[in-house]
Amino acid sequence: MLRRKGEELINDIAYSFENGATCTACEAIQAVLKRLVKANESLFLSTMTELCKLAGEDPEVCEGAVAREGPIIAYALRQIEIGSKTSKLFCITFMGVCDYPEVTPYKVSFPKKESPRLRPAPSGETPIRIVQFSDIHVDRLYVPGTSTNCTTYICCRAESIPKSLEGADSLAGPNGNHHCDVPLSLETSMYRAIEDIGPSFSIFTGDIIDHAIWNTTQAQNTINIDLAYAEMSSLGHIYGTIGNHEADPVNSFPSTAVESAPQPQWIYDTLSYIWSRWIGDEAATAEKNFGAYSTKHPGTNLRIISLNTNLYYIQNYWLYQDPMEPDPSDQLSWLVRELQAAEDAGDRVYIIGHMPMGLRDTFHDYSNYFDQIVNRYEATVAAMFFGHTHSDEFELSYSSPHRHFSTAAAMSYIAPALTPNTGHPSFRLYTIDPATFAVLDSVTYIANMSAPDFQTTGPVWEKYYSAAEVYGPLVTPPLEEGDELSPAFWHNVTEAFERDQGAFWGYWERKKRGWEVGDCAGGEGACREREVCQVRAARAEDNCVVPKLGFHYEQMSEGNEKEGKVEEDVCGGSMGKKVFGALMGRKNLVEVLVGRVIEMESRV
Ligand SMILES: *[C@@H]1O[C@H](CO)[C@@H](O)[C@H](O)[C@H]1NC(C)=O
Repeated sequence: MLRRKGEELINDIAYSFENGATCTACEAIQAVLKRLVKANESLFLSTMTELCKLAGEDPEVCEGAVAREGPIIAYALRQIEIGSKTSKLFCITFMGVCDYPEVTPYKVSFPKKESPRLRPAPSGETPIRIVQFSDIHVDRLYVPGTSTNCTTYICCRAESIPKSLEGADSLAGPNGNHHCDVPLSLETSMYRAIEDIGPSFSIFTGDIIDHAIWNTTQAQNTINIDLAYAEMSSLGHIYGTIGNHEADPVNSFPSTAVESAPQPQWIYDTLSYIWSRWIGDEAATAEKNFGAYSTKHPGTNLRIISLNTNLYYIQNYWLYQDPMEPDPSDQLSWLVRELQAAEDAGDRVYIIGHMPMGLRDTFHDYSNYFDQIVNRYEATVAAMFFGHTHSDEFELSYSSPHRHFSTAAAMSYIAPALTPNTGHPSFRLYTIDPATFAVLDSVTYIANMSAPDFQTTGPVWEKYYSAAEVYGPLVTPPLEEGDELSPAFWHNVTEAFERDQGAFWGYWERKKRGWEVGDCAGGEGACREREVCQVRAARAEDNCVVPKLGFHYEQMSEGNEKEGKVEEDVCGGSMGKKVFGALMGRKNLVEVLVGRVIEMESRV
C-alpha cells in the first residue's frame, strides 16, 4: 500500500516534469522534503547527505556541508507553506524553476519629503585617490605543488585529490591558480601594490574566507578574519563590510526577529572590534547587532554607510519565513534615518556592501525597497560600492521605469575579486573629487597570471583599464577631464553598447577580467541585451534574469547516471543548491528521497 503510494508520488513528479510543469514538480518535491523534516530531522539530514553524494559531489564535502547547512534548511522547510510566495522563491533559488512572483508592495516611509537638491557640480580641486578591493578568499591551507584539478570545488590543498591522472601534472605554483583560492603571497602582493598607490582610504567589500564551505568553523573563521585585517592594516584607513563567506555556516545571517535562531554575534563582535580603529567606538557598537555601521570620514563631509547585504541574499536560508519580513533586522529603516541625518547635515554618502542589490542573488522585494531609499536620497548618495560577483561590473538605479540619462539616479561600482577563480586577480583605484566625493575615474588593476614570470619573480600589478579613458569617448559630448562619471554618463555608455558591438565586447572582456573571455551565451545579440539589462538593473526585478534549471534537463529515466553538474556559483556555493538542483533533474534521486519517506512512515 505504502509502496504503491510512493510509486504514485514518484510518477506524479515525473509526470509534471515531462509536461513542463516544473514548478509543480518542485512544489511536490518540497512537500516530500517537508514531510521528512517534520517526521525525523536526523533522517532528513542523512538523506540530504546521501543525495549529495548521488549528485556526484565529493563525499567529504557532502558530509561537512550537510552538517552545517542542513539544520538551517530544515528550519526553512518547516516555515514554508507549499504553494506560497516563499515556497516559489525557494524553488527559484535552489531548483531554478517557477516564475518570479510579484514584488509585495511596501512603501518605505521617509521622515521628510524629497528635497530638490541636485548632484553637486565638480569642485575642480585636485582629486584624491581611493582603492577598493574585494573577495580576497584567502586560503591559509594553500600548498604549492598540490593538485589544481581536484575533486572538490577549490584545489591546491594538501588533501586535494586529483580528478584524473592527467590532472596530476597540473600543480599549484607558489602565487596562485585559477582553480584555487588565494595564497598569502598573492594577498600580500596586492597590499604592496596598493601601498605604492597610497590611497586616502580603502574600501574592502568583504569575503575573506576560502570556498571550503564544508569545513568552516567559528574559531577558524574568526582567526582568518583577524589575520586578513592585520595583513591589510598597513594600507591605512579601511572601511570594511561583511561578506556572506564570513559566516559559519556560509550565508547564515538570521534577522534579529528570528527568535529561535542563534545570532552570529561572534562575527559582528569580531568585525566591529577590528573596524573600531577606523570607524570609532561609537559607530562600531551602535548597530553592531546586525553587522552594519555609519561613520564620517575624519575631517570631511563624507559619510560611509556599510550595510549587511547578506540580509537580502537568496541563499540565506534564514530569510525563508512565510510570509517574509519586509525589513530584516530593521536595517532599511536604520538606513533611512542615517541618510536623513546626512541630508540634514549636507553630507555626501558612500553606501558600501558586499552583494550588489540588482543581481539574481538579491530578493526582488528587498531590492525594490532599497531602491525606493536610494531614489529618495539620490542627491546625497555620491556612489555605492559592492563586490561579491568577482566580475568587473556596474549597475544603475533609475527614478522611473523610463530608462534614460535624465532618470539615471545612482551608480553602483562593483569591483572584481582578488581570488582568481574567474579571472586575473584584481582591485580598483578611484579618482575622487575631494569636495563632492564624486567618482571621476575607476581604474582596474590586475596581476596577469598568464605572464611567464608570475610564479617565479611574482605577481606584477598593472593598470588594466581606466573607465574614463575607454568609455569617455563613447558618449556625446565626450567626457572631459574632471567630469564626474555620473549616473547619466553611465546610462549613455550603455546606449553606446547598444549602438556599437565592439564597445560592448570591450565591456564583456573587462567584466571577465581578461581571462577566458570566450563566447557569451546566446550569441552577440542575446548576450548584449542581457548584459545591458543587468547594468541598468540596480533594482533586481528589472534584471531580465529568468530562472533556469542548473543543468540541462535530462529525461528522468531510470539509470540516468549522467553527472548533472549544477551551474557553478562562484560566490554563494551552498550545498543545498547543488542537492536540490540535482533533485530537479534526476529521477533516481527523487526515488531515493521518496523511498526514505515511505520507509519512515511505514515504521510509525
Ligand atoms: C530518525 O532517523 C534516525 C536516522 O536515520 C534513526 O536512527 C532514528 O531511529 C529515527 N527516529 C525515529 C523516531 O524514527
